[in-house]
Amino acid sequence: MSRVLATTPPTQRQPLPHQLDPARLPAHVAVIMDGNGRWARRRGLPRVMGHRAGVEALKRTLRLCSDWGIGALTAYAFSTENWSRPGEEVSFLMTLFERVLERELEALEREQVRIRFLGDLEQLPVGLQSLIDEATSRTAANVGIRFNVCTNYGGRAELVRAARRLAERVSRGELDPQAIDEERFASELHTVGEVDPDLLIRTSGEQRISNFLLWQLAYAELHITDVLWPDFDAGALVAALKDFQGRNRRFGGVQTPP
Ligand code: FPP
Repeated sequence: MSRVLATTPPTQRQPLPHQLDPARLPAHVAVIMDGNGRWARRRGLPRVMGHRAGVEALKRTLRLCSDWGIGALTAYAFSTENWSRPGEEVSFLMTLFERVLERELEALEREQVRIRFLGDLEQLPVGLQSLIDEATSRTAANVGIRFNVCTNYGGRAELVRAARRLAERVSRGELDPQAIDEERFASELHTVGEVDPDLLIRTSGEQRISNFLLWQLAYAELHITDVLWPDFDAGALVAALKDFQGRNRRFGGVQTPP
């Protein structure tokens, strides 16, 4: 065995738990990773330690989704509203994102993950922007799970941006307003090229959408769990997927016969 293979053993793939039907998995799972601060407080730790543990939960979830054949995972890492948090917490999060990207890029490449960052990235620290550019381009040709990290993302801002971009095309005479349909509109969203999420998971029991993927979640099934994000594990993901598989998705139509 070569030295390289000896030092980097292939990661063990987790089989799909028998309770889940492989034919009825969501193609795209979105997650609102809530409860990091409460997780830390309950342990007498600073809030930021909850974010650190949250990164581990996200890595776990990404690996499980990838192993189980889910096509895409989209995570809400930092919203346009999160800038209003204490300055120290915001800079901790920006540094954390940089460190995670630096540390995990090789593993993402090796595991065939395609990473993309969705949001207004120009407002992020320049060092983080260049790491994002590097991670995006180095993983763009990968063929595995699509991993979308919503960073400085807001659903309303995304819709306003799309409307403005279309209006600019109309005013330049490049686009007939009559040609604006749902498909054309969706092509101006950050998620262009991605299928809409089938399942939205929100942790920590809060029952809100919080300005996340307002357009894309139109027909998603919602699973809200009391589990705090850093505790989100294989059992919690199986519970969410079982809940999803028990739903009857009608997309506004009538119940389909069995
Ligand atoms: C919400 O918990 C969580 C966040 C705002 C940050 C989540 C970010 C990560 C887990 C890191 C992802 C990193 C990369 C680069 C992929 P909260 O602080 O709102 O918790 P609380 O509601 O209990 O206060």
